[in-house]
Amino acid sequence: MSEIVRSFAPQVAASEEHAAGTDFGRSVIAGLAAAPKTLESKYFYDARGSRLFDRITGLAEYYPTRAETALLTAHAEAIARFVGPQATLVEFGSGASVKTRILLDALPELRSYVPIDISGEHLKAAAAGLAADYPTPVIPLHADYTSAITLPPAVPQGRRVGFFPGSTIGNFEPAAAAAFLERARRLLGPDARFLVGADLQKDEERLLAAYDDAGGVTAAFNLNLLHRINRELGGDFDLAGFGHEARYNAIEARIEMHLVSRRRQQVSIARRRFDFAEGESIHTENSYKYTGESFAALARRGGWRPLAQWRDPDGLFSLHGLAVP
Ligand code: AVJ
Repeated sequence: MSEIVRSFAPQVAASEEHAAGTDFGRSVIAGLAAAPKTLESKYFYDARGSRLFDRITGLAEYYPTRAETALLTAHAEAIARFVGPQATLVEFGSGASVKTRILLDALPELRSYVPIDISGEHLKAAAAGLAADYPTPVIPLHADYTSAITLPPAVPQGRRVGFFPGSTIGNFEPAAAAAFLERARRLLGPDARFLVGADLQKDEERLLAAYDDAGGVTAAFNLNLLHRINRELGGDFDLAGFGHEARYNAIEARIEMHLVSRRRQQVSIARRRFDFAEGESIHTENSYKYTGESFAALARRGGWRPLAQWRDPDGLFSLHGLAVP
């Protein structure tokens, strides 16, 4: 071994060990050690993953973003009545705030806006962009909304209205989705309301196309997770050794995304080895699809009373207005 390698190797090992001890590292190692193998979809959204997702939202095949944006615009007045005057809007996972702007345009009487995001960068950019264009005070909260959180003391009393668009609730297993709704209800307080976007069940062909577009953007988005593991955890995934697959699980009413190993192979991450059989998959995402009724039932399980429901004429997407019973 040369002098350089000898002095360098322990450092590499130390930084890989450190990476393995982060939330991301622990989640990846546990997921790949499990049978069947899984990775958590919340880790799709590093800088490159967020850019790829932004591209997905503009794809011809990916209807949810267009359908939900159109719903918000078409029903802005009814939604403003549902929110009521002098409320604080609390957005879970604010990301790029196109939909937020539609709401803020319709809600001139808003008292404050609280974007919650796990990415400090997104949060800063969104908060600055909105502060430049709207008089509403912005109180950003840098947090992972899937964990236990509390609102900053600066958030005014009075009605808080949650906003959880994009059908991101579909990423949770139903029990976890109900638990999330329950926690949000406690976070938002006694007079709360909640506006939640939920994708609707529809023909399988349309669903599969939305999660496996002809241009391969969703494939790149899925594979980026392996890229992120290589970069942040010192993994040695060969990205050409895995293929993107979207499957519809009709029993669970969910789209599943998988990364399927094209051959027998071994992958190392932070000095741990994982074996893949040919055709073995890593399950990377669930995206649950609801009916108006199945989502209302889920909301009730989470302790909410369904008050209103908006959906487009084609029945592609739904927005649910929930209240505290
Ligand atoms: C951001 C969770 C709503 O499930 O439709 C898009 C993520 N995955 N294409 C979805 C996603 C593949 C998206 N959500």
